[in-house]
Amino acid sequence: MRAVVVEHRHGLGALKDLPDPAPGPHDVLVRISVAGVNPIDWKNRDVYERPIPFVLGQDFAGVVVGTGDRVRHYAEGDRVFGIAREHGAYAELTVVPEDDRTQPVAKIPIDVGDADAAALPTAGLTALAGVERLGLEAGQVLLIVGVSGAVGQFAAQIARDRGIRVAGTGRAGNAEIGDALGIETYVAYDRDDVVQSIRTKYPNGVDAVLDLAEDAEAVKRTADVLRPGGSIASTIRAVDAEHFKERGLTGLNVNLFESPQSSREGLRSLAEMVKQGRLRVPIVAERNLVDAVAALELQKSRKIAGKIVLSI
Ligand SMILES: NC(=O)c1ccc[n+]([C@@H]2O[C@H](COP(=O)([O-])OP(=O)(O)OC[C@H]3O[C@@H](n4cnc5c(N)ncnc54)[C@H](OP(=O)(O)O)[C@@H]3O)[C@@H](O)[C@H]2O)c1
Repeated sequence: MRAVVVEHRHGLGALKDLPDPAPGPHDVLVRISVAGVNPIDWKNRDVYERPIPFVLGQDFAGVVVGTGDRVRHYAEGDRVFGIAREHGAYAELTVVPEDDRTQPVAKIPIDVGDADAAALPTAGLTALAGVERLGLEAGQVLLIVGVSGAVGQFAAQIARDRGIRVAGTGRAGNAEIGDALGIETYVAYDRDDVVQSIRTKYPNGVDAVLDLAEDAEAVKRTADVLRPGGSIASTIRAVDAEHFKERGLTGLNVNLFESPQSSREGLRSLAEMVKQGRLRVPIVAERNLVDAVAALELQKSRKIAGKIVLSI
């Protein structure tokens, strides 16, 4: 099979021929049709220095073409999507365990396309985990820092679907994304003071913050928009829970793979929302597998806001 492999430390990755993977007793073998691109893909390569060699990517949609002899839920021909953290997804084939919370997989509903399915798993499940962890009720106000990004756009829609009022931040050039999401307030962090703007609009403070920006220092400042007793969650492990507790606030770090939403049920609930028209998947660019490395650099550059997918 062909796959985009990182073979050298500080290398970007390159398209290679690899032996086809074989499923173990509890695994499904998937022929990938579309892979989704996420920040974790370049972070694994450039920040976490994952042991080499490895195949880039993790989110996929495709068709089951083989199953281990202990597999119960899937059969050849099933359309599936999920997260292949171990075997990667910028590839023609991948292998995932049929039941592993750190690599969830689920069937794709009949009315959901492969590109939408491939764009959902990591960002959609993180959004779902973040919104559910904050435990808001209809009518309460959630500020999403980084609402213009992939997780932010999913989180805004999931929150609004539950009747939660949403405010968000992003750069001024992405303000139309806030309009398209129908959120009630969009603050451009590169033009206005976020804390001041949100405080002016919500003098009693917002109920919760979901912080998706790559700025650990800013998280403490951002918490100034919270009402007494409010909660702040971060997806970049930037929250010091003790710091917030001393101030009468709740601080949470959301790690997808430690969250119950990282599961077959989590994937299915997202896909059902897409099927019912309650969740729009913000795909902004489609590339081919041969252009995967350039597509990942585009994601890293933050020049476009939303999901990039790769046709395999
Ligand atoms: N912990 C986990 O399990 C987990 C899982 C999934 C994702 N994540 C992390 O969650 C983050 C978001 O993921 P994503 O896929 O949504 O990434 P993304 O599509 O690249 O979006 C990043 C967002 O952050 C915004 N941003 C960047 N700097 C900002 C600042 N100084 N102030 C306000 N907003 C700022 C961007 O706004 P503009 O583009 O408008 O500038 C954009 O909305 C990434 O760091 C990702 O690695 C963690």
